[in-house]
Amino acid sequence: MLSFFSKSSQPSETREGKVVAFLNQKGGVGKTTMAFNTARALSEKGHKVLCIDMDPQANLSLLFGLSEEKFHIHHLLLNSLRELKALHTPVITSELIKKYQDSDVYLDILPSGQELSGFELSVAGINAPRQLVLKRFIEKNSLKKHYDFIVIDGPPTLGLLVVNILCAANGLLIPFQPDQFSRSGLKHFHEVLEDVSEMGITDSPKIIGYIPNLVDKRRKQVSSDFKLISQELNKGPLFQEFANKVQLVKASAKKKSVFDYKTKEYAHLQEQFLDLAQNIGEQLS
Ligand SMILES: Nc1ncnc2c1ncn2[C@@H]1O[C@H](COP(=O)(O)OP(=O)(O)OP(=O)(O)O)[C@@H](O)[C@H]1O
Ligand SMILES: [Mg+2]
Repeated sequence: MLSFFSKSSQPSETREGKVVAFLNQKGGVGKTTMAFNTARALSEKGHKVLCIDMDPQANLSLLFGLSEEKFHIHHLLLNSLRELKALHTPVITSELIKKYQDSDVYLDILPSGQELSGFELSVAGINAPRQLVLKRFIEKNSLKKHYDFIVIDGPPTLGLLVVNILCAANGLLIPFQPDQFSRSGLKHFHEVLEDVSEMGITDSPKIIGYIPNLVDKRRKQVSSDFKLISQELNKGPLFQEFANKVQLVKASAKKKSVFDYKTKEYAHLQEQFLDLAQNIGEQLS
C-alpha cells in the first residue's frame, strides 16, 4: 500500500469530484458488492476514484484487502470536530487513505472499523450540525479536488451515519432485492430522504437509480413483486437487473472485482458495471 499523495495525486490537482453513495437500510442487498465493482468500473474508465467505507462492518475495506485498521474514517471524522478535542487521535487523512492496485488501475480507499458504530453517541453533544460532519470533512480535506468520484458504501441502518451520507452525496444508487419486504423498506428510505431535503441544510442528492439485485427469475413470485415495486419507484431510473450470479460470490470471496477476470462468464457483469459507471458520469455531469 502506498500513501495518499503519490505522484498521480498532487495537492495542486483541481478536479470537480462527485460523491456517489450506495444506500439501502436493508442488509445483504448488494451495497458493498456494487460499490466495489462500480468504483473499479469508474477507474477502468480513467476516472480517479476514492472509496469511503462508512459501514462499521467494514466489508468494503475487507474487499480491498484491509483488515481491522487501528485508525480509520471514524477517527478522521472526530478529528475534524474542534469541539471534540479530547477524543482526537494523532492521525491525518493522507496517512489513512490506502492505495489499491488492480492490473494497471489504481483506486484509493479510506477504510472503516467497528468504532464507527459509536459515531452517533460521540457527536451527540456537539454544537456543530451533526448531520454535516462527513460533508465538512470532505470539504476540509479538499477531497473533491483530488478525485473525480468519491464512492461511499453505506451501512444497513437509517441513523445519523446515513443522514451524514445523504447530506454529503451528490447522487444515490439504491440496490434492492425485489421481494415483498423491499417495498416498505424503500418507502421508509424515501421518507428519510425527504426529511433531509426539508431540513434545507444541503442540496438534496439526486437518485441516480435503483438497482434490482440478486434477481432469480426462476422464482414465480419475483416478477409480480418486481412489477409492484417498479410502479412505486418513480423517483429515479430503474437499472437493468443483476441476476443472482455465482461469479460475483466467487470474485468477492477472493477479494477481486469482476474486472480481474478475463473469462467470458464475467463479460456481462463487466458490461453492467461499466454501464452503471457511464450512467453515474452522465447523470452527475
Ligand atoms: N448479484 C449477486 N449475485 C450473487 N451474489 C451476490 C450478488 N450481489 C451480492 N451478492 C452477495 O450477497 C452477499 C451480500 O452482498 P453485500 O455484502 O454486497 O450486501 P450489503 O447490502 O452490502 O450487505 P450489508 O447491508 O450487510 O452491508 C455477499 O455475499 C455478496 O457476495
Ligand atoms: Mg455492505
